[in-house]
Amino acid sequence: MNVLVIGKGGREHALAWKLVQSDQVGTIYAAPGSAAIAEVAVTVDIAETDGEALVAFAKDKAIDLTIVGPEQPLVDGMVDRFEAEGLKIFGPNRQAAEIEGSKAFAKYLMATYDIPTADHQSFTDYDEAVAYVEEKGAPIVIKADGLASGKGVTVAASVAEAVDALTEIMKDARFGAAGDQVVVEEFLAGEEFSLMAFVNGENVYPLVLSQDHKRAFLGDKGPNTGGMGAYSPVPQLPDDALLTAMVNIMEPTARAMIAEGRPYCGLLYAGLIWTSTGPKVIEFNCRFGDPETQVVLPRLKSDLLQVMNDVLNGQSPDLEWDERACCGIVLASEGYPGSYEKGTPLPNLHEVDTQTLMFHAGTKQVDGGWQSDGGRILLVASLASHLEAAIDQANQVIERVQSDGTFYREDIGYRALNKAKYA
Ligand code: AMP
Ligand code: GLY
Repeated sequence: MNVLVIGKGGREHALAWKLVQSDQVGTIYAAPGSAAIAEVAVTVDIAETDGEALVAFAKDKAIDLTIVGPEQPLVDGMVDRFEAEGLKIFGPNRQAAEIEGSKAFAKYLMATYDIPTADHQSFTDYDEAVAYVEEKGAPIVIKADGLASGKGVTVAASVAEAVDALTEIMKDARFGAAGDQVVVEEFLAGEEFSLMAFVNGENVYPLVLSQDHKRAFLGDKGPNTGGMGAYSPVPQLPDDALLTAMVNIMEPTARAMIAEGRPYCGLLYAGLIWTSTGPKVIEFNCRFGDPETQVVLPRLKSDLLQVMNDVLNGQSPDLEWDERACCGIVLASEGYPGSYEKGTPLPNLHEVDTQTLMFHAGTKQVDGGWQSDGGRILLVASLASHLEAAIDQANQVIERVQSDGTFYREDIGYRALNKAKYA
């Protein structure tokens, strides 16, 4: 089978890396891919949102399956476009992708179908939003409604901070039209975790649990980022966490999407919090998590291409998991998630042996050497029989890989180890 992966980040690098291991795969293409992805796939210079060119390419190369990495093309209707041409593609269509594309829709869905989530209210009027925040008090959570690359959320410790966030989103339009509507949410306390599942209609097949560290700095402090590292499994959760989240959240959500006339097909990601009353939804995403995918796929023993085909064909996929734990640490550009420089030399990447998993998110090759090309540069992933060993190994590798102008969190996974060190 010829496969096309749409995207260029660490998640897509991990997808291509895993797909290339399939016995059934012919050529893997990636659009636009990256210099690192070019080591496992044939890269094609087509932007990930250029539906017309991607469809033409898929026809030209007789692509048997296209896999969409990022949310934007899904939310824009890439799947509808491919399906209209009779091309096979993995991901939700435009209407189903709204589960991520519009927080207001996701909240409507959860309220209507009793899927546990934080109490909330949506606003398009700034003064009303401010009045609501003042009434509810802090801590409180402010979210831009549309897509903001994981950065449109403020967990405000005070009313003043919440009002500042409303001003940034609604008055200063920091996230553009994504901030025309805001969602103001109850603060949920508890352990956060990510559950990804393959979904086709009402059938839901879970992947193993993982946890992402979204804040920029040690001890989960500082601004939200796209993710500074992740690990799997998440041993501090109760043993029944996955089953409970499936029964209370994933399966009802799949049924709710059918009831809404938007049956879901693809990978559904739930960002969850284990509260004193069980799991609640923070957000849904209509695609693989980043960086969770980079620590979950290394644990998947089954053939990912076969799994995706089975899901698309309405069959139950065989999902076998490696018992080993995986820890992934992100190397980021200094300044991220604020402003940062690109083109920082990364002279130490060759320090890493070929056994180590390294998924590139924002790098480029210049004169045969690697340079940074984004806020998140790459992720180093280590598998080991225990999480503690995986964490240690990943730290040892990233310490060798890092260089001036970069930073990483050396406490990825600390919540699992129950270390008070950074708390
Ligand atoms: P989101 O982009 O919606 O996933 O939010 C980014 C991060 O903000 C989450 O990963 C949580 O750490 C935090 N967050 C979002 N909503 C809430 C909430 N209602 N209560 C507590 N923390 C939240
Ligand atoms: N790691 C969070 C996300 O993929 O949105």
